[in-house]
This record gives sequence, structure tokens and C-alpha cells, in this order.
Amino acid sequence: MARMETSSNLEAELDRLLEIERFDPPEEFREHALLADRSVYEEAERDWQGWWLSQAKELSWFKEPTETLDDSDPPFYKWFADGKLNASHICLDQHVEAGNGERVAFHWRGEEGEERDLTYADLHRDVQRFANALKELGIGKGDIVGIYLPMIPEVVVAMLACARIGAPHNVVFGGFSADSVRERMEFSEAKALITVDGARRKGKTAPIKQQVDSVMADLDTIEHIIVVKHTDAECEMKDGRDVWYHEVMEKADTECPAEELDAEHPLYVLYTSGSTGKPKGVLHTTGGYLTGVASTHRYVFDLHPDEDVYWCSADVGWVTGHSYIVYGPMANGATSVMFEGAPDYPHKGIWWELCERYGVTIFYTAPTAIRACIKWGTEHVEKFNLDKLRLLGTVGEPINPKAWLWYHKVVGGERCPIVDTWWQTETGQIMITPLPGIVSTKPGSATFPYPGIAATVVDEREGKELEPGEPGLLVLTRPWPAMLRTLYREDERFIEQYFSKFGKETYLVGDGARKDEDGYFWIIGRIDDVVNVSGHRLSTAEVESAIVSHQKVAEAAVIGQSDEDTGQAICAFVTLEGDLEGTSELEQEIRDHVGSRIGKFTRPKRIIWADDLPKTRSGKIMRRLLRDIAEGRALGDVTTLRDPDVMSQLEDKIKAEQAEDD
Ligand code: WTA
Repeated sequence: MARMETSSNLEAELDRLLEIERFDPPEEFREHALLADRSVYEEAERDWQGWWLSQAKELSWFKEPTETLDDSDPPFYKWFADGKLNASHICLDQHVEAGNGERVAFHWRGEEGEERDLTYADLHRDVQRFANALKELGIGKGDIVGIYLPMIPEVVVAMLACARIGAPHNVVFGGFSADSVRERMEFSEAKALITVDGARRKGKTAPIKQQVDSVMADLDTIEHIIVVKHTDAECEMKDGRDVWYHEVMEKADTECPAEELDAEHPLYVLYTSGSTGKPKGVLHTTGGYLTGVASTHRYVFDLHPDEDVYWCSADVGWVTGHSYIVYGPMANGATSVMFEGAPDYPHKGIWWELCERYGVTIFYTAPTAIRACIKWGTEHVEKFNLDKLRLLGTVGEPINPKAWLWYHKVVGGERCPIVDTWWQTETGQIMITPLPGIVSTKPGSATFPYPGIAATVVDEREGKELEPGEPGLLVLTRPWPAMLRTLYREDERFIEQYFSKFGKETYLVGDGARKDEDGYFWIIGRIDDVVNVSGHRLSTAEVESAIVSHQKVAEAAVIGQSDEDTGQAICAFVTLEGDLEGTSELEQEIRDHVGSRIGKFTRPKRIIWADDLPKTRSGKIMRRLLRDIAEGRALGDVTTLRDPDVMSQLEDKIKAEQAEDD
């Protein structure tokens, strides 16, 4: 009874908050904030390149740059090109040299409650050893190194060791399947792969090394596989190719000075989904990237490195983990929390338990996680003392106002500003966001471009700037330091994808958006065939090709359908071979097939058996109609279809399916 009362009180409170249009930065927050004065926007506007140079100079360079932006060959921009630096030196040595070696870089927490505190000095030591171990294995400047590891400290050591010797890393999210790892290693011609014997997931162990072995045998470019021993999962070690991480560490020299690299030296490749089936290798370089992530991490999260405890709950395998678990926070000497597990293991309040335990002051997560917490119930949050929290953040997808308000009230106790940060793998750094001591927020809006950034909303045809309120395409009209430099080995695709629609100086984002009367940006969502499931970016074409590779499938069309929990969910229309009948067993088989081809998180939530798919006369599948039908909307124009009857058959099917569900 008592709980019901609380939840109806909460509903009433949220309804009250729903009436508030803007949330001003709390006075207490402003007083302590690094930036509390609007003039920073004006200063950056007066000389945006100069502003970025001032941000670059906050880093510790071997040779400070005198050049800012080289825009002589758009869209191939260069930033700070005559500077020399090393990401691992910036993330480690400078802190140790400044006497902050004993500061904790990560409070690591394992799934079963294990704890390890890693200081900057600890990581400095391990990274040097591992960098030497990589060199011993013949890996050097310019070689690509794959990393397929769970959320364990070794993943940070691996990334920074690569950076230290100038070997760009290519991290693959642990939720992707071994097949996906192989594909990404093949595309990037990786020379080595760093992985793990087994990964823990909610009390179970996945035999990662075995899975990797089953697909990697004939990939000749991989000369070495380095295996971290993390569980007791059985695995074979292939003579001459495989080595144990702990063994090479033991043998390695302790000193490895960081290579002095050019600002434009590649730091990493990260594969992300595009509108075709082939993932895009987004390439980031060193000087501009670090400038962008360190500056935004400092000011968007108002970081006071000697006081704050910061936690970004993403996985290192996504760009959020690269920029805001590793490079941004470590460049700034932050103390962070790193958690191996899932938000509901061993219990649904684990995140909040850890916030209390480590005294987290800044918490950054995805809207989908917030919606899950709402569903699990407020009591899991309220059990823990979250008084130390002072700033909250979100990323990955638009946040619905109700989830925003719940986050604000239940987690933030109505005293923490929320920074809704919009950006992409390609942008490398946060682009549209509130500055928490300055900008009044409106729930659901990412507010304004970060100082130095220029964004606008244009019409699809001519690229003309739209009036407030009109939805259109989001574009970025100036280069920025952490921007992708190209798609790895696919310069043409890079131009075509981002810099062809409105010319070589306008970056096409791929999101729809509108600005309101006050200039606030509201992101609507993707306009291409990219879907966002629980903040994970996926391409419908990639899922389609995985489904079609099942021997019983003739054809498939995949769409993203709105979903209360995951933002979007994958819905697949599948046509079977010959006169095969769709059964629930086959449905499961196809889902599992997609799981093993790409990764479990990409399994379709819903499969609809279709005798035929709606196609234009030229044979193109009309996904727009499939989206309408899946969401129960009135159908748009069907006159261009080769066979308009297809749609009515599908409609009947969906009605029958719904009748069954009821
Ligand atoms: C979406 C994740 C609304 C957007 C950092 C973008 C967002 C895609 C937000 C990039 C936000 C990210 N509000 N939508 N605050 N943040 N998105 O590359 O559609 O995994 O294009 O990078 O996520 O996803 P990616």
C-alpha cells in the first residue's frame, strides 16, 4: 500500500515538473562552476579557430602547435598540424610528472563484487610494459591492433599502450559476435588482436577465445593474438601466434618513453554502422581529437579533477567509451568508476549502490538505461544515498521528457543539472549540449552547439536554413578538431557520405532536427537506414544481410520500430524460400542466426512473415511503407508500387497477429 502511495505521489510530482518549461542552473552549482558566464560563447564566436587553439594549448604537447586549421583541401581537414604529442603521455605521464601519480584513475568493480583501484602511476607502469611487449611482438608505429575485451582495466592498458607506440587501435564492442570481429580485423588488416579467455555476463561465462579461434584461423594478417586471463574459460593457445598477456607483461621492460607523434597521426579506427551492410571505419587522429574530448569533458561535465568522481556507464567498445571513459577523463586527470557488469546484476540497484560507495558526483548514461530503471521501480534507487551527485548527463538517443524528469527528480534530487549531449562516432566529441553552469535546459532538447561549433537545420532539397519550428536536416557548417578525418581506406565513401549533399564544407549529420524560437536544438532521430536500439547504433542493411544468409530465407527487409523500452526495436519482414511456412521455431532460429552473425543485441524483436515485400517498379523495397504498417499508421502513397496488393496482404497479416496477441 505504502509503495502505491509513493508511486502516485511521484506521478503527481512528475506531472508538476512537466509544466516547467525551463530549468535554470541551480545557484549552488553556478557558484562552483568552471564556466558560469555566457561570454564564453561570444569569445569563441569572435575567433572560433583561436578558441580551439586555446583549448589545444591546455594539453601537454611535446611541441606546441602554431598552426590551427588547415582547410586547403576540404573535406580533408587538418588541425594543429605542426604540433607533436602522444595520447598516452597526455593521459598518464603528465599526471605522474605533476605529482598526481597516486590519484585513482579508475575504481574498477567486477561483476562478482571484486574491486581494484588503479592509480595513474599503476597504469603508467602497466602501459609502458605492455607497449614494450607489443614492440617485442613486432608491432610498431602505424600497425593496426584489434582489441576485443570486456570492461576490465586491461582494456585501458591495451588502448593506451597502442597509443604510446603509435599503433592505431581498432576496438570491437564485446557484444559483437566473433564473426563481426573477424570482419573488422579483415577490413582494417589488423596485425594483432588483444582478447580474453572468457567474458563474464550476469553470472555466466562466454568462451571468447574459443569463439575467436573458430573464425580467425585463416586470417593471415593477424600475426599475434594476446590473451588476457580473466576467467577460467578453457582455450587453446596456438603455437607461434598466441601469447598470454600476463606472461608477456612479466618479461617486458618497465620503461617505454612515449613516441613523439604528429598531431595528425591516427589514434584509432572505430567501426560503426552506416546505411549499407558494410560498417564504416571511422578514423580519428591525435591532436584535434584530444583537444575536442578534453575540452568538452572538462566544461560539459564541469570537471574538478581533484574533487569529482565521474562515472560514464557506457562500454569502452563504443565511441562514448573511447572519448568519455578513456581519452577525455584521463587527459583531464579525472577519477572515474569502471564497472564490468550489467545494470541489473547482481541486483537492479547496483548502479546506485556503486554511486554511493564511490561517492560519484557526475554520472553519464543513456536514456534507454533510464527507462529501464523507471520500469524496475524507484525503490531500487531510493535505497541508496546519492547526495554526492551534482551533475547528470545523457547520450545516445533523444530523451523523452518523462524520462528526463524522472532522472532529474529521482536520481538528481532536483538539484543536479542534466546535460543532454548530442554527438556521433564521427564527431568524436560532444557537439550540441548545455554548459551546465550557463544554459537553462528544456527537457528533451540538447540545447546549443558547444562553443566553437556551428550547427543548423536546413531543408532537404536546397540546403537552405529553415525557420524556427520547421523540421529538416541537421548539418555542421564548420570543421571541428575531433572530427573524423576519413573512413579508413575509403576516402570516396567518406566524401560521398558526409560531404556531397551540400558541398565539401557542410557535414551532413544523418539526423533530422528542428530549432525552436529560442534557438534550442531538438534532435528528431536518424533519417537514413540506421536504427538506434538501446543507444546501440545499427544498420538495417547489416541485419538484412545476416537474415538473408539463413538458408531458408529468400528475402528480408528490416526497419526500426518505435519501442517504449529500447527507443527503437528491430522489426524484420521475412520472405521464406519456396513454400516454406513460418513457424515459431524458425523465428527463433533466424533470431539466433542474426545473433551469431552480428551480435546478440541485434536480434530482431519481431519477425513478420511476408509472402512478398512492397517494391517500386525498379525493385527497391519501400521501407517507409513497412514502417507505417508496423506502427499501425495509415499507409502513405502506394501508387508507385509494382504490386499494390502486397500491402493489403501484409495489413491482413498484422491484424491477424494483433488479434492473436489480444
Ligand atoms: C543519436 C553516440 C538525440 C543520433 C555518441 C546520432 C542522439 C547517433 C543523442 C550517433 C542525443 C546521440 N539526442 N540523439 N543526445 N546522442 N544521438 O555514433 O541519431 O553511436 O546520429 O554515437 O545517436 O550514434 P553513435
